[in-house]
Amino acid sequence: MKPSELLTRIVITVFNLGVVALSLALWAQTPLIHARIAEGGGWSPNVIQAKVGEPLHLKFTSDDVMHGFSVGQMEMQPVDIEPGKVSETTLTFTKPGIYTFFCTRWCGLNHWRMRGTVKVTGSETGTPEPVTPPLYVSLGLDLDKPHPVPFAPAGRPSAANGQKLAASLLNARFTTPDYYRSHAPAQLFDNLRSTGLSDSQRWDLVATVWQSNTTPAGLAEGKQLFAQNCAACHGEFGGGNGVFADDLAAAGTASMQTMNGDMAMSMQTPADFTNPQRMLGASPALLQGKILRGGMGTGMPMWGTIFTHEQIWNVIAYLYSFQFDYPK
Ligand code: HEC
Repeated sequence: MKPSELLTRIVITVFNLGVVALSLALWAQTPLIHARIAEGGGWSPNVIQAKVGEPLHLKFTSDDVMHGFSVGQMEMQPVDIEPGKVSETTLTFTKPGIYTFFCTRWCGLNHWRMRGTVKVTGSETGTPEPVTPPLYVSLGLDLDKPHPVPFAPAGRPSAANGQKLAASLLNARFTTPDYYRSHAPAQLFDNLRSTGLSDSQRWDLVATVWQSNTTPAGLAEGKQLFAQNCAACHGEFGGGNGVFADDLAAAGTASMQTMNGDMAMSMQTPADFTNPQRMLGASPALLQGKILRGGMGTGMPMWGTIFTHEQIWNVIAYLYSFQFDYPK
């Protein structure tokens, strides 16, 4: 080997070792994020800084039970965090902003309170998305007003039966996504009064219209999101009787007793999605608003920073499947 070749090799080796050492040093500097149940303090730290386009290395451990880590509105595999072990992930953000990270494993009544933020600075790499206010704001809906309808269908409205009725009965106005999102099923039932159909036929048509605004894949995603994030309170079959429903009521009573008055949280029982009076009087826009914003002290968490709009519409389509008979 020529001396010049040897020198080149030495230089390359030294350089490589340097790169490895630098990465190790950076890795060792990555702070360890501790996960604890909300009552035990939640995430620590609970604010993480990041820069657009720069890989963010994260290491986690749990100080109590099994937790999980995911960042809202981001395509990523949740990371499992086991007690006594260290798990890691690397994320790269393409847009600046404040992201919410959250626990993905049910770890107790206050599981959903295990949230923190990633503050991402820098400039946008893609085209920025226009910011539009949520539909409930532009429609001026009051999310906290009860919205029962005084009547209910005699049986379970069937989308398949509705399909057999002449499509011409449906005014084109009723079949647009805009109509669906801004009207409660009971409003369409009312609007179909002039068709001369029987009540049960009108309800079947309503079910058909509601089904036409979703897809089997959308319903499947809604079902999965519901099972993972909502069923613990709302019940696997939507009856408002999830495993945490009673604890929620007890927590509400306790907070009333200790805080007496204004500051008390007015915890409520989780909404029953199988109740036709409730659900047939609620438009998708109203349900979306509640899901985006949360109940603000009722025990209903806010999900606006966790799910994408598409995921929320899919979960809403799934909520209506507790009323209407269509395959899910
Ligand atoms: C920690 C318990 C809890 C979890 C988890 C939870 N909810 Fe709720 N939810 C409630 C409670 C309590 C209410 C009733 C009080 C209220 O409306 O604010 C409620 C009400 C609602 C309502 C309002 C219904 C109406 O008729 O106005 C919607 C919609 C809803 N939840 C959807 C969801 C979805 C979707 C998820 C999962 C992504 C979810 N909830 C997860 C407790 C929970």
